[in-house]
Amino acid sequence: MLDKKAGLKRELKTLLKERNAMLIAHNYQRDEVQEAADITGDSLALSQAAAQSDAKVIVFAGVHFMAESAAILSTDKTVILPRLDAGCPMADMITPEELEREKSARPGVPVVAYVNTTAAVKALSDICCTSANAVSVVNSLDSDEVYMIPDRNLSHYVARTAKKKMEWWNGFCPTHERLTTEDIINAKEEHRGAVFVCHPECAPAVVDMADHVCSTSGMYKYALSSPARTIIVGTEMGILYRLRKENPDKTFILPSKALICPNMKVTTLEDVVVSLREMKNVITVPEEIRLAAKKALDAMLKAPRDY
Ligand code: 13P
Ligand code: SF4
Repeated sequence: MLDKKAGLKRELKTLLKERNAMLIAHNYQRDEVQEAADITGDSLALSQAAAQSDAKVIVFAGVHFMAESAAILSTDKTVILPRLDAGCPMADMITPEELEREKSARPGVPVVAYVNTTAAVKALSDICCTSANAVSVVNSLDSDEVYMIPDRNLSHYVARTAKKKMEWWNGFCPTHERLTTEDIINAKEEHRGAVFVCHPECAPAVVDMADHVCSTSGMYKYALSSPARTIIVGTEMGILYRLRKENPDKTFILPSKALICPNMKVTTLEDVVVSLREMKNVITVPEEIRLAAKKALDAMLKAPRDY
């Protein structure tokens, strides 16, 4: 088993060099994939990395919409998604037809699309956002009214801070929605004095209990700077790999065993190696959709990070 892993790591290193490739991995990926990656990060950092990299090939260890965004931003690169079945249920909760209907009901109201959307939906949106810049993106718009898709929880969180009249689509992340206020009460009782950091994809009642709300990479920053010794973490369990590595003197508590995204966990190190070896699972986007979606992504990349 150990020999197999060592062999895979060796082959990956050789392949990355031979193909002038870069492995980028989301913070929720398996430990073995994060460990092998050139860059790990949140959705915003990974979009920026994809747009700026000089590599010829990007192996995107994440879910489909992330690889698709990389393919939209960088036509001069081949973008590979090691497992084509790594989707995002939230991204599939709104179709282009449904968005068209919502737009017709609100003429002139700009649409902010969370990056967790398909390229075809981004193409119909004015600007994208991630959990790391959603408030800045919404506040950057000229209009007093904003329609946000697809995550009702992120939208609800943004609506509290942004100075806009907001409406939103009723989508959600099944993984984050599984975290309950009960889970937090229990974790706080068991770990007196612990602070609670939470992703804005969690339900509003859970977000209300948080000491800090941020993107996954925001959590690394918070953990490093917080004086707290014990931190309850309200997001997918993949985050624990780097949190524990970077803060060996602190304790991180996952308040629910349900905080696991099956889509983020399908990709193994072997899948990464095989996809790069065979140059398979290349993600492409039809040019008309790509150009329109790129406008929304480029607009987002100009906005500052909230945290
Ligand atoms: P971030 O890493 O951008 O916070 O994204 C969370 C997420 O659920 C991605 O699917
Ligand atoms: Fe989608 Fe949620 Fe999984 Fe992220 S954690 S990929 S939003 S289902």
